[in-house]
Amino acid sequence: MSTTITEAISTHGLTPSLRVIQNGFGAEITGLDFSNGVTDVGYRFIEDAVKRHGFAVVRKTKLDDETHLELAKKFGDLDDVTPYNTAGRVHRLKYNELFDVGNIDIDGSIVDLSSPRGEANKGNSLFHTDSSFNPRRAGYSLLLAHELPPLGTGGSTAFADMRAAYRDLDPEFKNFLHEKNFIARHSLLHSKKMAAPECFRDVEPSDHFMSRHWLLQVHERTGIPTIYLAKHIHSLEGVSSEESQSILDRLFDHATQDQYVINVQWNDPGDMIVWDNTCTMHRAVSGEFVTKYRRDMRRATVHDDSSLAWGLNEKSNKRMGLP
Ligand code: OGA
Ligand code: MN
Repeated sequence: MSTTITEAISTHGLTPSLRVIQNGFGAEITGLDFSNGVTDVGYRFIEDAVKRHGFAVVRKTKLDDETHLELAKKFGDLDDVTPYNTAGRVHRLKYNELFDVGNIDIDGSIVDLSSPRGEANKGNSLFHTDSSFNPRRAGYSLLLAHELPPLGTGGSTAFADMRAAYRDLDPEFKNFLHEKNFIARHSLLHSKKMAAPECFRDVEPSDHFMSRHWLLQVHERTGIPTIYLAKHIHSLEGVSSEESQSILDRLFDHATQDQYVINVQWNDPGDMIVWDNTCTMHRAVSGEFVTKYRRDMRRATVHDDSSLAWGLNEKSNKRMGLP
């Protein structure tokens, strides 16, 4: 299939190439840009790469806000920030379907780390999947770089391969997890509190909505089993909080070992990463840039359309927070 797509794109004068990054995980695509518009073949090339390899870094896409959204809509229905705009926060970007995940304030200055937004941003540096805390989780995310800090000051994004992590689980532990078939409870407040305990010390996540998803899942697009893990997970149902914590710690220690993790360097504005939240985790890698240099990153978030999209949650339009 990918040969056909490559041929189809070549006939349009482009010759994209794909390099698998590590152990079958992650693809780096070069030679695919959208300066002449967003095409179905371009979309299919990326979608196929993400399906096989969990995420794809597309270099020098030449996308802007409009074409970014046009491409994202080919992946499915988009989430938007409207629930948060009403909570007193002013959206800096032109489109509500673009999540503003960099470190830039509404006036163009760098977000103060001790401001509410600065504190809330810290949660992004924990391994997570997008929107697992909402009733309907995210499927794909498309993150486009608009402005990057100087090289060597931080700001890369790391990914973990959850299909490989599942495959390599210790067989006894794997059996135990299957026997228990745990339901995990996800909360945005929980991960924010973990990342900024002082700021959220008066918040008790269990007083608020928690989204429920099976811990072990089959990745529907490929039929490959995976672990739906994220630092948004507050607890596993059916065991004591101590046992829950020790199982989660063991899973995180296992899944974030070097052989499953790739740290992606952003090279140029226009670079984009597309990932599948249902078989990977990711995190923002911080660094000295956070207080010094602007990092303008905009994310289109595609609602999951698989049969596991809503987990065990009631279907509702409720959404829990940013980003
Ligand atoms: C996101 C995210 C990481 C980063 O956009 O969902 O987690 O490196 N971003 O900005
Ligand atoms: Mn994220």
